[in-house]
Amino acid sequence: MTSPTKIERPRGAHDVVPVEQPLWRLVIGEAERLCALYGYRPIVTPVFEDTALFERTSGAGSDVVQKEMYTFEDRGGRSLTLRPEGTAPICRAYVDHGMHREPQPVKLYTVGPMYRYATPQKGRYREHWQLSVEAIGSEHPSVDAEVIQLYHALLTRLGVSEFALALNSIGCRECRPAYLARLSDWLTANLERLDAPTREKAAASPLRVFDNFDAKPRAVQEALEHAPKIGESLCVACKEHFEAVRRDLDACGVPHEIVPTLVRGLDYYTRTTWEFVGPDQGAQSALSGGGRYDGLVEEIGGPPIPGVGFGAGIERLVLAVERAGVQASPWETDVFLAPSEGASRELIASWLGELRARGVASDTDYADRSLKGQLTQAARVGATTIVQVRADGATLRRRGQKDEEVALDDVLARLTS
Ligand code: HAM
Repeated sequence: MTSPTKIERPRGAHDVVPVEQPLWRLVIGEAERLCALYGYRPIVTPVFEDTALFERTSGAGSDVVQKEMYTFEDRGGRSLTLRPEGTAPICRAYVDHGMHREPQPVKLYTVGPMYRYATPQKGRYREHWQLSVEAIGSEHPSVDAEVIQLYHALLTRLGVSEFALALNSIGCRECRPAYLARLSDWLTANLERLDAPTREKAAASPLRVFDNFDAKPRAVQEALEHAPKIGESLCVACKEHFEAVRRDLDACGVPHEIVPTLVRGLDYYTRTTWEFVGPDQGAQSALSGGGRYDGLVEEIGGPPIPGVGFGAGIERLVLAVERAGVQASPWETDVFLAPSEGASRELIASWLGELRARGVASDTDYADRSLKGQLTQAARVGATTIVQVRADGATLRRRGQKDEEVALDDVLARLTS
């Protein structure tokens, strides 16, 4: 009989195994604590959505829509897509549940998996986890600064210091059309200086020529340095809005650099856009990215409501935290019960039940290990107290203290006192 072939994990997907969990929990726990501190409430949306939600909002010219979506037809013939990002689904839920009737802005966040069919590499996955933080219903520049400052605070709290904040404003419905016309003219006149992918972008969606700017060939970067930039064409209202965002950031001590080529890869952005960039090179360098999306809610059939927020990859944050040398405490077990021959298993089962009911994390051996093997296992699970249980009594071994002989009837009281 041939043995069945091993089933592999899908390419670009990853497990988060128990040894990685302490760091993941540290990162997600800190993010959730900060969101609560800043008044953002959790929301959970489905992992799949109507394909049109992403087509309409991310933009036909975006990499996400053109080549990265996991789209499928369900058994009822509907076109569904595994969410590539969290903003459009949260806005869809905002409209669905009439949240525009609540006090504004509605401040929400989610942590969940996102799906993008891209070539996997370090820091880039086909399934990645993302913290998505959104403030919907206010165009106040202080909200832009608040969400930016929130992520800055998260990095600081997690001990990450190797990053820079790139900031830009990409204008609004009023000032962008005239700019796009200028940019298109420049691109037409300079086509021979661009590579094939950038030419394709120029034809499909001119602003997208700046996507992944740092990953472009040097010559193309140099050519695009001379292209007109949106920052030079902002209307008065956009300029004032941007200056107010910057003043708030300065007031909060959040250093930033203006990067005129930062346009972000999705079509829904207006005005403020930003990225927190880590030390890695290329397209995976972004620790998080976000911006304002004042037309998105309307685009999906809701009222004309502005919004602003960011998405932050959890894997990239975990890598940054590891790089910063931060250690998360491993699992801790309070008590490990180590039975030796003749010890009553029923007594141990009842002690475990009692200890756990009282909130004492406890465990025992289920592999008939020798005493030495049990002590190793107790150390592996981080037990601070080991109880060697015999038929006629027990030895209590507490970390940093002298061993103690205890009668079986007294063990529970000693462990819970
Ligand atoms: P995004 O820049 O496409 O924006 O993604 C946000 C963050 O998710 C990135 O900065 C990166 O940390 C992480 N990320 C994206 N793709 C991958 C991947 N393939 N593997 C690992 N990490 C990845 C958005 O998704 C917007 N929804 C952000 C936003 C929220 N804008 C306004 N509100």
